[in-house]
Amino acid sequence: MTSGSLAEAPKPKRLIVVGSGIAGLYSALLAAEAGAEVVLLTKGALADSNTYFAQGGISAVLDEPAPGDTVAAHIADTLNAGAGHCDEEAVRVLCTEARMDIAGLGRFGVRFDHDDDGDPSLGLEAAHSAPRILHAGGDATGARVAAALIKTVLDFHAAGRIQVIGHGQVTSLSLDSGRVVGVTFLQHGRWQDIRADAVLLATGGAGQLFAQTTNPSVATADGLALARRAGAEVTDLEFFQFHPTCMVRTGDALEAEGNTDPLLISEAVRGEGAILVDANGQRFMADYHPDAELAPRDVVSRSIALHLAALGDPNGHVFLDATVIEEERGKGFLEKRFPTISKRTRQAGFDWSREPVPVAPAAHYWMGGVVTDLYGRTSVPGLLAAGEVACTGVQGANRLASNSLLEGLVFGRRAVEGFLGRSSTGPLAPALAPRTGDRLAGSAAGSDAHATTALSGPLELPVDDRSFASKAVGAFSRPALRRLMTAKAGVLRTGQLLAEAAEALGSWEGDVVPLEVPDSLDPREHEDSNLLLAAQLLVHAARERRESLGAHYRSDGVKEPDVVDDFDKPYTMSRKASLVND
Ligand code: SIN
Repeated sequence: MTSGSLAEAPKPKRLIVVGSGIAGLYSALLAAEAGAEVVLLTKGALADSNTYFAQGGISAVLDEPAPGDTVAAHIADTLNAGAGHCDEEAVRVLCTEARMDIAGLGRFGVRFDHDDDGDPSLGLEAAHSAPRILHAGGDATGARVAAALIKTVLDFHAAGRIQVIGHGQVTSLSLDSGRVVGVTFLQHGRWQDIRADAVLLATGGAGQLFAQTTNPSVATADGLALARRAGAEVTDLEFFQFHPTCMVRTGDALEAEGNTDPLLISEAVRGEGAILVDANGQRFMADYHPDAELAPRDVVSRSIALHLAALGDPNGHVFLDATVIEEERGKGFLEKRFPTISKRTRQAGFDWSREPVPVAPAAHYWMGGVVTDLYGRTSVPGLLAAGEVACTGVQGANRLASNSLLEGLVFGRRAVEGFLGRSSTGPLAPALAPRTGDRLAGSAAGSDAHATTALSGPLELPVDDRSFASKAVGAFSRPALRRLMTAKAGVLRTGQLLAEAAEALGSWEGDVVPLEVPDSLDPREHEDSNLLLAAQLLVHAARERRESLGAHYRSDGVKEPDVVDDFDKPYTMSRKASLVND
């Protein structure tokens, strides 16, 4: 089957896509190509998304995979990293269909880096058993992918095929007899409404819940909150991934750099051989996991936190030493392979080809989200979700590196197929058939990949966090919320800390009512309310799961008395439960 075309659409239907990261842009293009009326709504400019900041790339086993690589190996790695908590069918779909959507990106103008022989240049990242990470512009993958898709979206817009609405903050979903039939949004201080046959949430994540994050300022849990207020089921919210290597910059460095965007140092740098050392210059990761710096991401972040606590500097940072790469691969390698990171570290006052750079874990990606089936359908008719806001179960308790852009692609396309009623008649836009011959690898549940969960000593709180605990919480503010979540619901958690977090979040309900849409023309107040609701949901889920799993690490390792629900409805449902949409 070839790409969708206008003639193939059974009848024009209207789809509102909310969000302009990879899932939103790609699904808007596919739906428009198939003849749907598409409205693409985003709360900032089209380029304001997490996708734009992605460095490492997109994992995929292509038609001609690297020697020794298979789709089955990609599936096994995803299941392993996910700590046995992934939905195996979703993982099989993700890894098997990856190559279709990589081809789909090519149709929309995305070009990946190639090696000297003209083959795709494939990077290695932590917890992948083979190099399979496609990248663009070296370490500017997200920016390159977003730029190409945005250009195509604007071409479609100019041709009258996609209506683009920027700087429009969706404040609520419109419901009619239990079905989502449109959205209300705020634009330039005015309320507006649009109606549609369905709404696809592709609003990304919620890194702004935490004080340190790799996410841009737009990542404020909007889609999750919209869906929850409309009654959609959400799940796995206790699993928030912290990226181990976000560069730590002092106020002076930030001022000198003149750029406050988060400075992620891609996992691909460790894939090329960079190591982590502590303030004494000691390499420590091998003490925590046999795969050392290439252990799954949750393990590396947690090991950094535990190591700093053991050194008596829980509030500190470690160092990423990439000089070893330059020694091995030759002078100039870092600049060529990682031009963006080279430039940004230089601006921050470091020559990373000659000296280690300070890094610490930062909130990066939410594995949980709005429950969907494999066609983006949520528990509310007319409401679809794809990408980070959704939870298909593909990321389990800890996402495998570079599977997030891929998830946005594969499940963004499938959501459009679900919308067009093609979920039973075959894929919408693949230029290629799925690979055959690769079988689903066995589940990794019960593997010993999480050996470090034995390291459950008492948590030494950072100095700032101890003082936070003893202070009265005070009135709600976004910085206070972010400090609270970092101190009490971050990389290392205990029942006591989570209980304190729940109490503080509850006390803020007088200032911000999370389950109500604020009667305010200020978009920031809507974001605050979304963040508070998301924080409550996350902390509730974290209190319910008393054992450590993946990115959810209970350093106390004890059971606590039953958590009492503050809300009248259950928060979660099994992904296996039947979904009623459409
Ligand atoms: C990175 O480049 O390390 C981020 C990639 C990802 O989050 O998958």
